[in-house]
Amino acid sequence: MCGIVGYTGYRQAQPVLVKGLYTLEYRGYDSAGIAVETPEGLRVVKTKGRMKTLDEKISAAGGLAGTCGIGHTRWATHGAPSDLNAHPHLSQDGRFAVVHNGIIENYLELRQELQKDGFHFKSETDTETVAHLFQKLYCGDMVKTLAAVIKRLRGGYALGVLSTGNPGEIVCARRDNPLIVGFGEGENMIASDIPAILPITRRYAVPDDQEIVHVTPQGIRFYSLDGQEITHEPLTADWDVASAEKGGYAHFMLKEIFEQPRAVRDTVASRIKDGLPALDEYGLTDELFQNVRNIHVVACGSALHAGLVGKTVIEKLARVPVSAQVASEFRYSDPIIGPGDLCIIISQSGETADTLAALREAKKRGARTVAVCNVVSSSAAREADGVLYTWAGPEIAVATTKAYSAQLAALYLIAVRAALARGTMDEASARAFCAEILALPGKIESMLETRDEMDRLAKLYCDRSDTFFIGRGIDYAAAQEASLKLKEISYVHSEAYAGGELKHGTISLIEQGTLVVALATDPALYEKIISNIQSVKARGASVVLVTNGDYQSGGDVCDHVVHLPGCPAELTASLSIVPLQLLAYFIGVHRGCDIDKPRNLAKSVTVE
Ligand code: F6R
Repeated sequence: MCGIVGYTGYRQAQPVLVKGLYTLEYRGYDSAGIAVETPEGLRVVKTKGRMKTLDEKISAAGGLAGTCGIGHTRWATHGAPSDLNAHPHLSQDGRFAVVHNGIIENYLELRQELQKDGFHFKSETDTETVAHLFQKLYCGDMVKTLAAVIKRLRGGYALGVLSTGNPGEIVCARRDNPLIVGFGEGENMIASDIPAILPITRRYAVPDDQEIVHVTPQGIRFYSLDGQEITHEPLTADWDVASAEKGGYAHFMLKEIFEQPRAVRDTVASRIKDGLPALDEYGLTDELFQNVRNIHVVACGSALHAGLVGKTVIEKLARVPVSAQVASEFRYSDPIIGPGDLCIIISQSGETADTLAALREAKKRGARTVAVCNVVSSSAAREADGVLYTWAGPEIAVATTKAYSAQLAALYLIAVRAALARGTMDEASARAFCAEILALPGKIESMLETRDEMDRLAKLYCDRSDTFFIGRGIDYAAAQEASLKLKEISYVHSEAYAGGELKHGTISLIEQGTLVVALATDPALYEKIISNIQSVKARGASVVLVTNGDYQSGGDVCDHVVHLPGCPAELTASLSIVPLQLLAYFIGVHRGCDIDKPRNLAKSVTVE
């Protein structure tokens, strides 16, 4: 989704803004722009396309001289990607520049009102409404004006505003969309995410919803909508600049795939105490698990796929009913959830609009809520009753890999704790299981050694137009994640099916050369999945089998085998996904795709 950056201080703003926007590229965007307060007034350069194009346009314009400015990467919602729709947007009198992330839901109503007042719109965006409204309501004070403006807005937003008449001042506010402020020395910043402020500072704060923040080189002040000053203790980002850089890898995605052993280790190691998961401090107490009626896991995309694995593992170990639901469906489904239920929401960013809405719905209905989330102080982390952080570190590639693996690891801990609390697992078995969880990073490491083989297979199969992933039980959940990875970064059509479902229709699509990737990691289901494989092979499919069974390639079962090391059936999803992430990655590379910034996708989906 859109990225916002703002700088005020003693340096030239333009390079700081441009650098910040490059670091926010991962969020997904289709246009970009900056506005700088110059001696001649506000100057804006913006363009459809990538940051490189913006950089070139800024150079062609002779640069923008000034020490205060705002910048934006836009992911189109209202109006196509174009130079005119790109942010920043100026008010009619050119005195105010606005950048915005989110959706102003009542923008049409406001637009009509402003048009009646004589304002002319240059773009199709909802954001331009805010720029004109700011001009209309301007009372000589930026903080008071922004408060008056946001009282008129419905929807979600992160907004940054710059003006000509107030040198060095930026005001900003957020509602349900990410925005942080960075504290420097004689210079300060605003941004959508931490990487953008790291060149200046690691000290930051997250304003609460509908606070107005006033940023100048001398300091940052926070106000409530009615003008009361609020204080925020700065947090310290434990990321360094290097963690937001590629570190010698060709793409962030590859780097992050290789960071999975560390991400899983960091997520579990400090939570296993004396051989058992200790989760009280995250709101996951034995009492909660003993009395819980139902567990609802709610998430989107890959986080939901992690939830599907978690559902199977928690049900198997703790014998409590668990549902895994799509957040965008859950929120409008009049869900049967209430006191006595636990809602686990899973989100890498902690800012996904549908997931946050589901969390609020569950809370409203009296359920206890816990967020499994990767971004410290994100909205999900702040709003849930408890938070179990995944310590995957910054994930920059749009396609998630290490955060997904860390989510699985966190869910395994929850499953074991719930099983112990409910008496469905004895302490000795729980200890043995935890030892297996702690052994996962080493085994994931060994799966990374499939890199060259996956590259070879990717070269063989990158021209196939359809791929099917099949599996049963946990393998079906893992198949769904593998399929999503392939389609999102390589644009190859791909579907995941429960092995037994193929014959109910989809098998009609299998023809000579169709690629089928089969997962078979549960010995109890080997024979079933092998029969499914044989039925697709008989119709000409090329089959890659990912298994811990004793199968060899070249026979009538499959064309290629990827062997997994032994581990309990409940944990195999952490291993089977690794070669399939690599396969998706290399297919994307061989098809010439933009791996870290796939078309139409955004890292953090902060709109509905
Ligand atoms: C896929 C992917 C998405 C996210 C989904 C939820 O690779 O990254 O499907 O998993 O948009 O995002 P978070 O976890 O930030 O809520």
